[in-house]
Amino acid sequence: MIKTIALTAMLAGYIGLQAQNQKPVYLNPKAPIEERVKDALSRMTLREKIAVIHAQGKFSSPGVPRLGIRQLNMDDGPHGVRAENDWNRWGEAGWTNDSIVAFPSLTCLTATWNTDLSALYGNAVSEEFAFRNKHIMLGPGTTIARTPLNGRSFEYMGEDPYLAGEMVVPYIRSAQQNGVACCLKHFFLNNQETDRFKVNVNVSERAVNEIYLPAFKKAVQRGGVWTMMASYNKWLGVHCCQHDSLLNGILKRQWGFDGVVISDWGGVNDTWQAATGGLDIEMGSFTDGKLKESEFTYNDYYLARPFEQLLKAGKIPMSVLDDKVSRVLRTIFRTAMNPDRIIGNQCSEAHYDACRQIAEEGIVLLKNTRNLLPLDTKKYSKILVVGENATRSLTKGGGSSELKTLYDISPLEGLKALYGDKIDYAQGYESGGAHYDKIDTIPVAVQTQLRKEALEKARKADIILYIGGLNKNHLQDCENGDREDYNLSFGQNELIAGLAALKKPVVVITFGGNPYATPWIDNVGALVHCWYLGSESGTALANVLSGKVNPSGKLPVTFAVKQNDYPCFAYGAEGFPGVNYEEYYREGIFVGYRHFDTRGIKARFPFGYGQSYTTFKYGRPTLSSRTITPNGHLTLTVAVTNTGKRAGKEIVQLYIGDDKASVERPRKELKGFRKIALMPGETRTVTFDITTEDLQFFSEKEHRWVAEPGTFKAYVCASSEDVRGTAAFELR
Ligand code: BGC
Repeated sequence: MIKTIALTAMLAGYIGLQAQNQKPVYLNPKAPIEERVKDALSRMTLREKIAVIHAQGKFSSPGVPRLGIRQLNMDDGPHGVRAENDWNRWGEAGWTNDSIVAFPSLTCLTATWNTDLSALYGNAVSEEFAFRNKHIMLGPGTTIARTPLNGRSFEYMGEDPYLAGEMVVPYIRSAQQNGVACCLKHFFLNNQETDRFKVNVNVSERAVNEIYLPAFKKAVQRGGVWTMMASYNKWLGVHCCQHDSLLNGILKRQWGFDGVVISDWGGVNDTWQAATGGLDIEMGSFTDGKLKESEFTYNDYYLARPFEQLLKAGKIPMSVLDDKVSRVLRTIFRTAMNPDRIIGNQCSEAHYDACRQIAEEGIVLLKNTRNLLPLDTKKYSKILVVGENATRSLTKGGGSSELKTLYDISPLEGLKALYGDKIDYAQGYESGGAHYDKIDTIPVAVQTQLRKEALEKARKADIILYIGGLNKNHLQDCENGDREDYNLSFGQNELIAGLAALKKPVVVITFGGNPYATPWIDNVGALVHCWYLGSESGTALANVLSGKVNPSGKLPVTFAVKQNDYPCFAYGAEGFPGVNYEEYYREGIFVGYRHFDTRGIKARFPFGYGQSYTTFKYGRPTLSSRTITPNGHLTLTVAVTNTGKRAGKEIVQLYIGDDKASVERPRKELKGFRKIALMPGETRTVTFDITTEDLQFFSEKEHRWVAEPGTFKAYVCASSEDVRGTAAFELR
């Protein structure tokens, strides 16, 4: 009897001990995330819940220290991890271990049209974020390039929603596999920087659905993105950061987004709207203008004390708070407390390799008269490099995407490594630093002298490699301002024209996130556009110019002949950049090539265009059937042959056009692309699946996607203007 009692007591003690030792569910890394979320939520006080939905410093939101729940560390994005910022003040913290690899800009990635490289990018950059102990990477961005003047286009993925969506998905997936959340920017209609905090965008329901939402939707539904950054601007009169029908309606209810919506820094300005409008984490708020930043504490944030008061007064139900907190906890368990999160690494060879590979494939060869490129160095003993971008750091500047790199190889260094003493250099022009009100601040006498020096050296050279374009100064490719016009600044047009007038071979090489005017184009031998190439800039460029790498990038944006060819400029200031903070996207769905192609306006270089050092021949496309039924699909097949002497890569593009419709439709729209590698003489067959979804437009009458029966045409193209074959079919 005594024995039994003792045994039972021992057993009870043992079980008790076990229970004590057993981790609560939220700390059990093997428990399903939703159970961890529920458990953690049930243990949190009101104060703790309020704390996790707003910032505690410039780049983090707190976890729950009492419960051992980690904070969320965030950082820009999207081309590498930004230098460590001070906790509570704008400015670098001065750490010595935060130098990283700068990856190419997202326009460059998009210009590769290579989804494998997008996955490689997402993996490599997230490894750096993981190693720097960051949980949320503020990027990538899929805002559509509506205007060539947008200061932040370089951070985005071009003018076409299909291309942007296809390219962003692998980036997100491979980054998040590493336990690093992407924060997709900037949701939505943040198509310009001018008046970004105030402008109200008026845009048709059709354009919203066909142009401005699809890439975000794909990122949510196919990419499974974990966080979204809501934009500053307004839509339907409401700031996107606190926009009920956008965030709760479209994003969360319609698309099923289960992650957190983070405000752009300082994008919140109303407690009620932010609380009920679907925002989950408030970042970067300062003051309403009545206080100094130092007097405005994190407890004064709109989603802090003011929200708590509304909750306590019963004006907003606790369920609204619990939903936000659950989303934050879900994000913490997916990232900071994810047992599968990687440790990552920083500045590894693999990262520099990835950087170079993406840079090489993103460079676009736009013109190449009489095979001036690749450079036949036997022909030239004196190569003159002219232009500021040959030496300027293009990983600095640009706003929040600015990077502090361990090293960058400049174009001049890359070319010197290859051609040694044959290279001479002249700056040619100067851009100055980042000035806040104007762009050309350099005295005329200085520019004249620099130009004179360059022309003098050029007279003695055998070939001129001009390296200029845009840079990351304010009013160039930089946040919080747009370019002033479509021309290259700092007297570059005159300088290039002057060099071309010498009648020597001139190769123009430009950096920049946007298209620009090329009035000198007929007088130069070659044109190469490089976007921003990151740390391996010089090596990648030298490899392409020398022919070690055969260029294979194609444009993700249209290069128009002149600024007014872009449709956003056709309606005066109301169309861009807005009047009294009201802007009207009157061009509707006719953005980018949809406009040029449909209206028959010849582009200087069309969307999807890019040359190679080899040539490709396309066979005749064939369809698996001449008819498609609702919910059915077709297969299109086309053979492509490398008819030149070098191995190369071709981007085969599929566009679809509706012959007759009840609404005006673009002549054709991109619905598929494949990048294929071909040896000389090799032929490969490319197949595309066409579904009825590819035939739809968004009907404003029915408020839904519609495919109307009739004849459609599939266009197999080498660019949006270069149709290599068509095949017609019928939707029954
Ligand atoms: C930018 C965001 C950025 C944030 C934090 C804002 O000004 O618009 O893209 O992530 O600052 O640096």
